[in-house]
Amino acid sequence: MVNKITVVGAGNVGATTAQRLAEKELARQVVMVDVVEGIPQGKGLDQWESAPIEGFDTRVIGTNGYQETAGSDIVVITAGIARKPGMSRDDLLNTNAGIVKQVAEQVKKTSPNSIIIMVSNPLDVMAYVALKVTGFPRERVLGMAGVLDTARYRAFLAEALDVSVRDIQAMVLGGHGDTMVPLISYTTVSGIPVTQLLDRAKLDAIVERTRTGGGEIVKYLKTGSAYYAPSSAAVQMCEAIVRDQKRILPCAAWLTGEYGMSGLFLGVPCKLGRKGLERIIEVELTADEKAALAKSADAVREPMSVVSL
Ligand code: APR
Repeated sequence: MVNKITVVGAGNVGATTAQRLAEKELARQVVMVDVVEGIPQGKGLDQWESAPIEGFDTRVIGTNGYQETAGSDIVVITAGIARKPGMSRDDLLNTNAGIVKQVAEQVKKTSPNSIIIMVSNPLDVMAYVALKVTGFPRERVLGMAGVLDTARYRAFLAEALDVSVRDIQAMVLGGHGDTMVPLISYTTVSGIPVTQLLDRAKLDAIVERTRTGGGEIVKYLKTGSAYYAPSSAAVQMCEAIVRDQKRILPCAAWLTGEYGMSGLFLGVPCKLGRKGLERIIEVELTADEKAALAKSADAVREPMSVVSL
């Protein structure tokens, strides 16, 4: 358990993240911050009142300022506006960049030693904004995307194969957009290559559904985007850090030469422990996967070049 985790943004993703963090007792205190008066306070109190039933001692509070967040060990940033139907993640770019910039300035001042987990979209670019504004080392700025995309991929595979989700091992790399790269060559079912269990056409359809998984939810919800699986993914990253688990999870990390690329956040296999990003693992890729990753990197670089800092 760490002392304090802050969740910025008390909307759907933020509030669900806070509740999950508390239920797992990952911190003594979880602080939710939002610009809307009353919302973080009300949700925080409601969550704290679930503690006697759920059986956790994590104290959840909500606030509109950063004073209460001071000295946080981890800051999960979910502030921003959510994707509406027909809106791409990149449409969100400038609004959310302004919000994330302002949040990152506060985090730098009040929690200078924290590890930031970026959730706000477009994720890879928002992580870049946070890295630049805070000046934190890359070990302490990570983006949540790959864990969520991989969870979607694993869920669809488990459904198609009629097996437990627990037995599907997989990795989705690249940017958190339609160019993400689910690695079929590293997808196994309890060690059995998935290509031995599913024909190529079915696999391709699952890969495509994974790529558009976020949009599929937006289409149903109409007024917002996914939050149950995204919050689970953010909390899994927090847990790996808090408990120093040394887990290998696909996360958006700042590349400095890995996979032949530099100067951008891209989803790659990362070892997460108490220091945050402890290592980026470079796996061998097929020619197709390499090309797909390069295309994904281009899709991240483009919005990066238009964001004003
Ligand atoms: N500081 C703190 N909170 C802010 C700020 C700010 N500067 N600006 C906006 N917010 C808050 C909003 O008031 C709102 O409560 O961020 C919250 C966002 O919540 P939702 O609209 O419910 O959006 P949510 O579904 O939680 O998604 C948040 O995560 O997955 C991504 O694409 C998604 O970028 C979006 C983010």
